[in-house]
Amino acid sequence: MAGGFTAGCYNGINTARMVNVNKQRRLPKAGTIEIAPSILSADFARLADEIAVIESAGVKIVHLDVMDGHFVPNITIGPPVIAKLRKYSNLVFDSHLMISEPEKYAERFVEAGADHVTFHIEAADESKRLIDRLHELGATAGICLNPETPVDSIKKVAPLCDMVLVMTVHPGFGAQEFMPEAAKKVIQVREIVGPDIRVEVDGGIDPQMTPIVVSYGADTLVAGNAIFSKPDRVAAINAIRQACKKTKN
Ligand code: DX5
Ligand code: ZN
Repeated sequence: MAGGFTAGCYNGINTARMVNVNKQRRLPKAGTIEIAPSILSADFARLADEIAVIESAGVKIVHLDVMDGHFVPNITIGPPVIAKLRKYSNLVFDSHLMISEPEKYAERFVEAGADHVTFHIEAADESKRLIDRLHELGATAGICLNPETPVDSIKKVAPLCDMVLVMTVHPGFGAQEFMPEAAKKVIQVREIVGPDIRVEVDGGIDPQMTPIVVSYGADTLVAGNAIFSKPDRVAAINAIRQACKKTKN
């Protein structure tokens, strides 16, 4: 497969290490609805198998929740786990960094095999710089806002991203209840970014909530509990696909 190499300097740190980016494994272009299963509710002892099952269901993206115990009150996985998983999957790795100081670590996630890196506006000092850096590294870039964060805070940088992530729960845990008011922010985000940038929703998404968020303009649906709490993951993915068809415009 084709690869590209980039190197540079960031935050005064010499980043001469080469980052090999697989250019063929990219976030799908906007215009389709994609389900991005979140492994947070998967069996962590069998992650590669869990990802293989969702891959067999035809999804293109897997959502990897990275938590540092500081930005959010929970700890999950980091670059070493992503690097190991990379050997077992060709899915687009959508890394959701729920971490403080994302600028310090983003490059390591790309090196490990993340294709798309989302960071939180609440955690980053210089969002534009980080988005540019992710693009230099050959990754796509995403910005995320918490339920209480106003859409205005991302107005300038959202159009520079490849995907904007709207949290529909407070980040940190899976299987929480969907927050309808937070989801409505998708409408404003879609107005800002237009049709060519993906808008992702994350938290409490299941077949019941799917038509609501899709009608607001979301096109990338993260679902953890709704898929991995079910014995048949493929059927659970198909149930969300069916629910997309119920969307009224
Ligand atoms: C929450 C995570 C989500 C979570 C979604 O902090 O960012 O990705 O896994 O899980 P469900 O679908 O269970 O709400
Ligand atoms: Zn997430």
